[in-house]
Amino acid sequence: MKIFIDTANLDEVAEIASWGILDGVTTNPSLVAKEGKDFKETVTKMCEYVPEVSAQVTATDHEGMIKQAEEYSGWHKHIVVKVPMVKDGLKTIAYCKSKGIKTNCTLVFSANQAILAAKAGATMLSPFIGRLDDAGQDGMELIAEIVSIWKNYDFDTEVLVASTRHPRHIIEAAEIGADICTIPFKILEKMPVHPLTTSGLKRFMDDWEKVKS
Ligand code: G3P
Repeated sequence: MKIFIDTANLDEVAEIASWGILDGVTTNPSLVAKEGKDFKETVTKMCEYVPEVSAQVTATDHEGMIKQAEEYSGWHKHIVVKVPMVKDGLKTIAYCKSKGIKTNCTLVFSANQAILAAKAGATMLSPFIGRLDDAGQDGMELIAEIVSIWKNYDFDTEVLVASTRHPRHIIEAAEIGADICTIPFKILEKMPVHPLTTSGLKRFMDDWEKVKS
């Protein structure tokens, strides 16, 4: 399973990339607005750390989306153009596929939407599991449903689990066999930590001090 970080913060990307475990970055307009930095400069710098950086179009019509997709993909070869799951978005994904531009279909909340994104030629698609959980549904069930459908066909669209909210989400996504998980920095920081590792290391170091003295 590929691990992406869900952020528009360059320091967070640099830190997680330094662990040697990072495969990509996803950004979105809300994350970019939170950081308040230049969008083009931020995503282009991120491309120096990882081979896939999602940059979302903000146009809502097909023509505008295509214009932004062509612009963003020209910034760096690692850019993946993020396109919302709407009808004009599907047209844009199909256009990008014909031009060799990678896409990430975002705001996916149903298996029907996932099938359409794959048919249009999305490189990856992003079901938002945390937001489904918030709405009283089981977001991970959607991932299981999509992965199960994918076993019947030869769709090469990668299933990217987005809107992850806690470390269990990452384990469950891996058990199901999702291709990618995008994870906020705060959750990534929790993943290497276990109290028995902390106490075990302390005991080793305390014993080692006794040998030395
Ligand atoms: O990648 C999508 C993600 O940023 C959405 O997360 O927590 O806003 O639902 P959240």
